[in-house]
Amino acid sequence: MTQKQQHNGSKNDRVYIFDTTLRDGEQSPGASMTLEEKLQVAELLDTMGVDIIEAGFPIASNGDFESVTEVAKLVKNAQVCGLARAGAKDIDRAGEALKHAKNPRIHTFISTSPVHMKHKLQMSPEDVMEAVAFSVSHARKYTDNVEWSPEDATRTDRDYLCAVVETAIKAGATTVNIPDTVGYTMPQEYVETITMLRNRVPNIDKAIISTHCHNDLGLAVANSLAGVQAGARQIECTINGIGERAGNAALEEIVMALNVRADLMPQWTGIETTMLARASKLVSAVTAFPVQYNKAIVGQNAFAHESGIHQDGMLKNNQTYEIMTPESVGISQTSLVMGKHSGRHAFREKIKTLGYELGDNQLQEAFTRFKDLADRKKHVFDDDIVALVDDEVAKGIDTIKLSFLTVIAGSEGPQTAKLGLDIDGHASQVESTGDGPVDAIFNAIKALFPHEAVLQLYQVHAVTEGTDAQAEVSVRLEENGKTVTGRGADTDTMVASARAYISALNKLLVKREKQAPGTMSA
Ligand code: KIV
Ligand code: ZN
Repeated sequence: MTQKQQHNGSKNDRVYIFDTTLRDGEQSPGASMTLEEKLQVAELLDTMGVDIIEAGFPIASNGDFESVTEVAKLVKNAQVCGLARAGAKDIDRAGEALKHAKNPRIHTFISTSPVHMKHKLQMSPEDVMEAVAFSVSHARKYTDNVEWSPEDATRTDRDYLCAVVETAIKAGATTVNIPDTVGYTMPQEYVETITMLRNRVPNIDKAIISTHCHNDLGLAVANSLAGVQAGARQIECTINGIGERAGNAALEEIVMALNVRADLMPQWTGIETTMLARASKLVSAVTAFPVQYNKAIVGQNAFAHESGIHQDGMLKNNQTYEIMTPESVGISQTSLVMGKHSGRHAFREKIKTLGYELGDNQLQEAFTRFKDLADRKKHVFDDDIVALVDDEVAKGIDTIKLSFLTVIAGSEGPQTAKLGLDIDGHASQVESTGDGPVDAIFNAIKALFPHEAVLQLYQVHAVTEGTDAQAEVSVRLEENGKTVTGRGADTDTMVASARAYISALNKLLVKREKQAPGTMSA
């Protein structure tokens, strides 16, 4: 049998999913999210059944502190975790950020490998050992749910690793995480490391062992599963595997591997797998990190069967080439949804089945845009509606709004954009040229709303197939080291581009306003 196997549901085999998309994931260059985006992701992770959400690194910035605070207030079921280095200041800041959490966890860490202790920390192994005992017991003043990590554990001397793990547990750590920080270990070696800890650390039964594997050699998921086979019962991972350098272990791959191969691995998670595709899309949209087409579980081609032989087999019985169904990960067969005659009630029901809850105003806006889309586009698919609603949900209270846009493109040039904006209730318009129509549009926006932000990324993605497909555009802007990503969707790529740029500018304004209230003008 290759479809979903039944796990035995035994308590000893329950694996806790610790999602670090908002912390390690957000550390990937360019993946920064706004507070609203982090809250959207956190809410989805919570609904999906993630056990622990690592919401940020509170000492790192005021923005991180605020996100941990707000995620802690929002989340209903999951434990909310804040990261802290081994010093009192870090831990106090994490404790403060988590004070509203129903179930807070402090995750404190320090490097233990020779290369890190010598060059990064410039501390002796004895001093590190002292810091471990201090940091864990200090964190215990805030919560009895304390996780401790020896950073670069897989390149740490084994005797020393056993000694620091024992010290951390003695000081009160209830979870010990064994990070493969540089993505260096191999599955069998990781099995040996975890097995050694289980055999040699006398108090190991007082803590849950966790995996945290980076993907530098493409082994993050394999190593995490190997860790579970050796006795780890928490896996740290991220949606789409985003994270430092080559990323972290991908949550969706781990969950589905355990789900599909329950015949080999009885360990199970509490994740609602039908929400995996939605989570992947959301994280890809808010970070503007595209998901590669052949990515396992959530890539566009993950369930596509192109060759004649495969298609023939699938028509006879889908188990010939499918080890799990697209529906089991939340990918509905591309379905034609509704046309221009569909009413608001049907639209609301559709939105619900796609996993959204919209307020009345947002629903009205989304419905108006859907009607407009249905007028212009022959077939409206689920993905069209998802793009449109994501665009609507991402909108804040915008200072800058697009009033109109006319573009002259083509081989004769000059490419020109005539653009009107409403900026804080004041209408203005301009005509600008550029090196291509998109450049002309961005120049026009800059002429009406002068700013110093630098364009870091411009990306276009077709939501569905066909020449009438909606274009989903992402624009990343950088100002004073802060990045924001704006999105826009429309059947007209130029309109989507203008919307995406304006959305990024609006987000920058919110960031500026938070840093220095009263500076909303350009
Ligand atoms: O990769 C790593 O070692 C980390 C630690 C902070 C757990 O992210
Ligand atoms: Zn990491």
